[in-house]
Amino acid sequence: MHTRPLRTDELDLFVGATPDHRREVEQYLENMFAAGSMRPEWCFVAEEEGEGPVGRVAFWTLPGMEEPFALVLLDVPWDTDYVSGGTRLLEDVLEKARALGAEEIEHVVDDPPMRPQFQHHPQKRVALLEGVGFAFRRETGRFEWRGGEPPAVPGRLSFRTLEEVGEDAFVEAMTEVSEGTLDREIRGERERLGAQRAAREFFEDARRVKHDPAWWRLAYAPNGELVGLVMPAEPPGFLTIFYIGVVPRMRGQGYVDDLLAAGTATLLEARRETGNEKPLLADTDVANGPMAAAFERAGWVRFAGRREYIVALTPDRGQPAAV
Ligand SMILES: CC(C)(COP(=O)(O)OP(=O)(O)OC[C@H]1O[C@@H](n2cnc3c(N)ncnc32)[C@H](O)[C@@H]1OP(=O)(O)O)[C@@H](O)C(=O)NCCC(=O)NCCS
Repeated sequence: MHTRPLRTDELDLFVGATPDHRREVEQYLENMFAAGSMRPEWCFVAEEEGEGPVGRVAFWTLPGMEEPFALVLLDVPWDTDYVSGGTRLLEDVLEKARALGAEEIEHVVDDPPMRPQFQHHPQKRVALLEGVGFAFRRETGRFEWRGGEPPAVPGRLSFRTLEEVGEDAFVEAMTEVSEGTLDREIRGERERLGAQRAAREFFEDARRVKHDPAWWRLAYAPNGELVGLVMPAEPPGFLTIFYIGVVPRMRGQGYVDDLLAAGTATLLEARRETGNEKPLLADTDVANGPMAAAFERAGWVRFAGRREYIVALTPDRGQPAAV
């Protein structure tokens, strides 16, 4: 078996792996190529001598980044002997990711299966991932805003934009609101990098995602004290609340509702202005009960779950290692 990148005239070979969802996968690739999150040469097929493709997978990254961040569109013949071919395909592409400078690679499995990845056979997928060193990181609930009218923003907070407060104050606020978070990924990054560096990196990652700086706002109580922040954004294909938080001393007063209403209204206004039909989607760690409850109170509906897996790619070895 041989793994190779796709030529630009061969996209058919790649989308043909899931014939029932051809159109959706084509559309997804088109959008991701345009956004700079994927590239034709980051799409791989595994071929068996004389048999044609027996598997496919692609790299995905944040727009503007040169190294891959995640694997998407993984498919192998799940009903036959997928283990040896699938393992080989994953090992080959992880090696390529490492060579491109990636230090870790993520892959998410959505339940129930849905566009654009249509991940049927979840147990087999997870077994394959774990077999090459991926480890479970966290599970999130996936929410979609299905309200009608934009939510009313209660008047008890005043807002200042990123441009008004400046970058340093904004990153400092991100550091403060992340303290005591119930989100395992954000907590893990704080432990790994320290609170300030983790906030700075989170800010830099967020900056790569399309947004209007006026969307990112700090919120203050009437006495001028900082309450929290909200960061709406537009990743390729949807609109989202990229980050939201309340400083520890202000928690338990429902301020998250004010911030979420403001962020949702921003996204709906952006959608109305551009006339696009992009969905409003957001993920939150299932361990972050107060956040999930806030989404539900605000008219967001939990429509799926997502399990995140991650593998560290050590620089000194050819093989991936578990985190
Ligand atoms: C999630 C978050 C925004 C909730 O804000 P909030 O305004 O305090 O939310 P609520 O007022 O609705 O809180 C509901 C309850 O959860 C509790 N709670 C809120 N955040 C908590 C936390 N991090 N740890 C433990 N309990 C928390 C509140 O004290 C309150 O308890 P009570 O009902 O006994 O009074 C806030 O915890 C936070 O900023 N967390 C860190 C950042 C984060 O995780 N953001 C979401 C990631 S996408």
